[in-house]
Amino acid sequence: MIIQKQTRLRGEIDVPGDKSISHRCIMLGSLAEGTTRITNFLEGADCLSTISCFQKMGVRIERENDEVVVYGKGLHGLAKSDSVLDVGNSGTTIRLLSGILAGQCFPSEINGDISIQSRPMKRILTPLQSMGADIISIKGNGYAPLRIHGKPLKAIHYNSPTASAQVKSCILLAGMYSDGITSVTEPFLSRNHTEIMLNHFGAKVHSANCTASIEPEPRLEGRDINVPGDISSAAYFIAAGLLTPDSEILIRNVGVNPTRDGILKVCRSMGANITVQNQRAYGEPVADLVVKTSQLHATEISGEMIPALIDEIPILAVMAAFADGTTVIRDAAELRVKESDRIKVMAENLARMGADVEATRDGMIIHGGKPLHGAIIDPHLDHRIAMSFAVAGTLCDGPLSIRSNECVNISYPGFYQDLYRLNANAALQA
Ligand code: S3P
Repeated sequence: MIIQKQTRLRGEIDVPGDKSISHRCIMLGSLAEGTTRITNFLEGADCLSTISCFQKMGVRIERENDEVVVYGKGLHGLAKSDSVLDVGNSGTTIRLLSGILAGQCFPSEINGDISIQSRPMKRILTPLQSMGADIISIKGNGYAPLRIHGKPLKAIHYNSPTASAQVKSCILLAGMYSDGITSVTEPFLSRNHTEIMLNHFGAKVHSANCTASIEPEPRLEGRDINVPGDISSAAYFIAAGLLTPDSEILIRNVGVNPTRDGILKVCRSMGANITVQNQRAYGEPVADLVVKTSQLHATEISGEMIPALIDEIPILAVMAAFADGTTVIRDAAELRVKESDRIKVMAENLARMGADVEATRDGMIIHGGKPLHGAIIDPHLDHRIAMSFAVAGTLCDGPLSIRSNECVNISYPGFYQDLYRLNANAALQA
């Protein structure tokens, strides 16, 4: 994929459905009684992996017109899969599914791609084992593949060392199959989509500060869900709109849950002109965003804001490279264990473009404002790195090419088409 410089992004865009929420609709819809109808479901590779895992366990999941329909089997209605459950590239699928499988009355094996096989699973093995779960890393190295012999579980309180929605959700989902109230405290609040959706389906989940708890054996009921647009996908257009000269973009129907909207706060602290309008809430808050070209300056990104923008740090690093001054990102060591080591891969590729960037143990120091040029970018098969550099390519001098660019399909099929569609000049030339 060769990316060319752009000016003047104009128009309106609907980004695809939220990835985290789409996964959870399939999971809870499968465990509910009755039917769950989902609109604006994200048809990205990760969420399709979740669908295929639940289909292998006997759940009927179909596309009907513009809906994905899940015919729920009830909390105890899943069946043993004949083959290994393959989560592909999806960390959310493997970690949340492990919590569900730990409480089933049948054995399972889960695996994924090369990236999944190097992502830490001890963070879920430890709490699940303390609930009495029979779950192991088959190679004994703390990574996938995992083998689980499901059984009734003990309720626990877990103090999670990391602010991770995947860990929290894994434990809460396992808590449905336990003998009492299960709770998790995390150091900072991570995204709370599991808690919101469990309550929407009829479970009893209580949240206070950084602790969430669930009562066992809920009766989940199928629901109609309209998935909000993914703020993590909107982030690329926020960055492009702010940094491309003479631009104004309306991004419609974006999820603005406060556990996810850190990007908006940080952009404002960099001097961004972003208006949040038409805010409405159907369980999950949703709004339209108007983004206009702005002169950006450096900022600091650290502490409790990190979980609310963890997936947006790659594109924020690109923004920092184009902003005036030195941006410091710290407390973000989690980036090292995402789909790639995002600190290393961002720093390497930004340097290839001529940026002055230093990778630190838990973040980056970016001296912004240097003129950036095209380069050959290797995103290490990481969708968020590829999309971040596609935006960088529309801003720098000289062509930029991205290897294995198709990894964007993990979370945003149609990304490149959307990026070019907004270019008013290109449209005029066509
Ligand atoms: C996710 C949680 C986050 C995030 C990931 C999706 C989720 O991961 O980075 O893209 O859907 O729960 P962690 O829980 O590892 O922080």
